[in-house]
Amino acid sequence: MKPDKKRLWQGILLVILAILLFFFLAVLERVTSPLQKFLVYILLLSLGGGIIAIVMSFARDDAQKKERKYNMQKTIAVIKGDGIGPEIVTEAMKVLDKVAEKYNHKFTYKEVLMGGCAIDATGEPLPQQTIDICQCSDSVLLGAVGGPKWDTLPGDRRPEKGLLGLRGALGLFANIRPSHLNPVLADACPLKNEIVGDGIDLMVVRELIGGAYFGKRETYVKDGEKIAYDTTKYSESEVERVARVAFQMARKRRSKVNSVDKANVLDSSRLWREVVERVAKDYPDVEFSNMLVDNCAMQLVRNPGQFDVIVTENLFGDILTDEASMITGSIGMIPSASLGSGKMGLYEPIHGSAPDIAGQNKANPIATILSAAMMLRYSFDMDVEAKNVEDAVQKVLEAGYRTGDIMSEGCKQVSCQEMGDLICQNI
Ligand SMILES: NC(=O)c1ccc[n+]([C@@H]2O[C@H](COP(=O)([O-])OP(=O)(O)OC[C@H]3O[C@@H](n4cnc5c(N)ncnc54)[C@H](O)[C@@H]3O)[C@@H](O)[C@H]2O)c1
Repeated sequence: MKPDKKRLWQGILLVILAILLFFFLAVLERVTSPLQKFLVYILLLSLGGGIIAIVMSFARDDAQKKERKYNMQKTIAVIKGDGIGPEIVTEAMKVLDKVAEKYNHKFTYKEVLMGGCAIDATGEPLPQQTIDICQCSDSVLLGAVGGPKWDTLPGDRRPEKGLLGLRGALGLFANIRPSHLNPVLADACPLKNEIVGDGIDLMVVRELIGGAYFGKRETYVKDGEKIAYDTTKYSESEVERVARVAFQMARKRRSKVNSVDKANVLDSSRLWREVVERVAKDYPDVEFSNMLVDNCAMQLVRNPGQFDVIVTENLFGDILTDEASMITGSIGMIPSASLGSGKMGLYEPIHGSAPDIAGQNKANPIATILSAAMMLRYSFDMDVEAKNVEDAVQKVLEAGYRTGDIMSEGCKQVSCQEMGDLICQNI
């Protein structure tokens, strides 16, 4: 229990005053009785006041905590998206409702369109109304977008364009993806036991709204053949802000950061390295090193246990996060958070819309449910509630329940909906 510091110091000062008066009285033993009486009153008042202030400093904090924990009202923009999106997001909302009921919060959902379903309804992958509602919400919960139906559309009209546009519009510059090998799913890990060793528990912090995905690009024809280029551009401030997210994240974990670049070839990477090295000096307690991206791709399958936090630019991060998630088993288990400078965040599973199993109640909703848990922790400061959801997922897995993608011998296969129900029952 942490006390209210101001009150605690007031109390300590009053107690010190009372002690000083006590010694003063001892010196003034022979002074006439009215003055002595007056000083005794002050001594008693100071002592009493001091003790009350110290007790209150703890009590006040407790009351504040209670106030923070209960009766919170949050508005969540919900983008169910395409393919399995509606199925998995429905289960995550069910879990959030259970959390709201248990902890006496109120979550208001505002459903908006993005991706293929938005193209069908409005002709745009990211309607302005969706941006407006997301910007006015406390956070955004997303399923997945895209599918074969929209694959032939031109680049700027494809569902994925909506996702990139939304990240940019919300200023979400850091994507955070944990990769943790759950002991109960160890069989799903494609690496040999001797490589996995004590386990895998790493976090990739990926820059999200810069680099090649947002740089100038063009396809043109010259001398009868097509030529295409993309540009990677980073400013010092863009690198610095995401580097700070990584170092702060490391402080809450095992205090180690690997910055990944291609500084032996690319100018943008040389600037990246220069800035991250400068930021590292502000975090002397965090062990820091640079690594080339090709080496990192290799080290992830050779010795993944060496990593704690990896920070890297947009394109390298996109590839490394998929690799980091695959070595822990199923793609249906991994959540992600995209954060900016404030509390608002976009929370989504790392997988796509899985059109091959869409509408069959077969999808694994756990990545989306764990994304909702990240929302509780990072956007709403509800650590206890987030832990409750994560523990509920763990209990269900330990009890042997599995969706098809993580099914193994001796376990009980359940549907997407049943998995959501089981997790709710354990909250
Ligand atoms: N953030 C996003 O919205 C996002 C991300 C990646 C891909 N996509 C889009 O999704 C579509 C399909 O892409 P893809 O097939 O390359 O990748 P995918 O992640 O959708 O599917 C890859 C494989 O994993 C399985 N899978 C994925 N999630 C699962 C889950 N929760 N439970 C069980 N199995 C699951 C699928 O059935 C499939 O076999 C494409 O249109 C792509 O552009 C969207």
